[in-house]
Amino acid sequence: MITIQATEDGSFTFYSSQFGQLFHSISGAREESQKKFVDPCLLAEKATLNSSIYILDVCYGLGYNSASALEAIWKANPCCKVYLVALELDETVANMAIEERLLEIWPGSISPLLAQLAQQKSINTELLNAQLLIGDARITLPRDFRADAIFLDPFSPPKCPQLWTVEFISLLAKCLKDDALLATYSCAASVRSALMEAGLNIGAGPNVGRRSPGSVAGHKKYGYRSLSKQEKEHLLTKAAIAYRDPNLQDTKEMIEQRRLQEQQNSLLEPSSAWKKRWMTSRG
Ligand SMILES: C[S@@+](CC[C@H](N)C(=O)[O-])C[C@H]1O[C@@H](n2cnc3c(N)ncnc32)[C@H](O)[C@@H]1O
Repeated sequence: MITIQATEDGSFTFYSSQFGQLFHSISGAREESQKKFVDPCLLAEKATLNSSIYILDVCYGLGYNSASALEAIWKANPCCKVYLVALELDETVANMAIEERLLEIWPGSISPLLAQLAQQKSINTELLNAQLLIGDARITLPRDFRADAIFLDPFSPPKCPQLWTVEFISLLAKCLKDDALLATYSCAASVRSALMEAGLNIGAGPNVGRRSPGSVAGHKKYGYRSLSKQEKEHLLTKAAIAYRDPNLQDTKEMIEQRRLQEQQNSLLEPSSAWKKRWMTSRG
């Protein structure tokens, strides 16, 4: 079941009882979409330099990341054409967000355009060509799409490991143009090592609200803060053992079990020791 929930910036999000998780940070859903996804992908800057922008929104949900992207792009360049591919398992989420009128806080034509996208699953206007592909993102991901920005926004790794594996992230890496960036809210060591195993350079995203920094990745090393010593050391612990899904079809339980086994056989330092060391060094 999905229920509506207010967040601290005045915008609303949903809670999924199936996944036992909110769709956004309680500190602000709209703020999170801007600061954790759109800003780190440098979309406003890209829009001033380009007449078209390609976006891959993995886990479209209510559509907030796409809404904030359109806002930033059209503010910077009102003539920029946006090509959007959005992947989502549950089509009721986007429709419910429209029915509850949650997207009406975004300016101009954004809410009506995304309402049409939610209802018809595709839209093609002068400034927006978008498709909402319903199903498991491991299957629906278009292998030939080349993006200027990728938003990676599944539920957390323990709730939805299928979309945080080395294999799935490697497919995303192939969809990134040379100078493109992928942004995610997660700073989990397992996620960061999967991004690195997929051949990407990684950095830290901004801290938003009370939450830890997200992660930013790309083929080139620019546009983000390098990891701190503490963050780098985290990647040398058992927590950094990545999730794997060799044929991109395993269940959550199989993927978890595979990682657990690898952790049990590993000689890496437990992350509890890393945490203790850093707590002590801070006094
Ligand atoms: C954290 S929410 C995304 C929030 C969204 N980005 C937004 O701005 O509203 C995670 C979303 O992932 C979707 N999801 C879960 N498993 C999925 C899968 N295997 N493939 C695609 N989407 C999935 C859920 O239905 C949910 O809408």
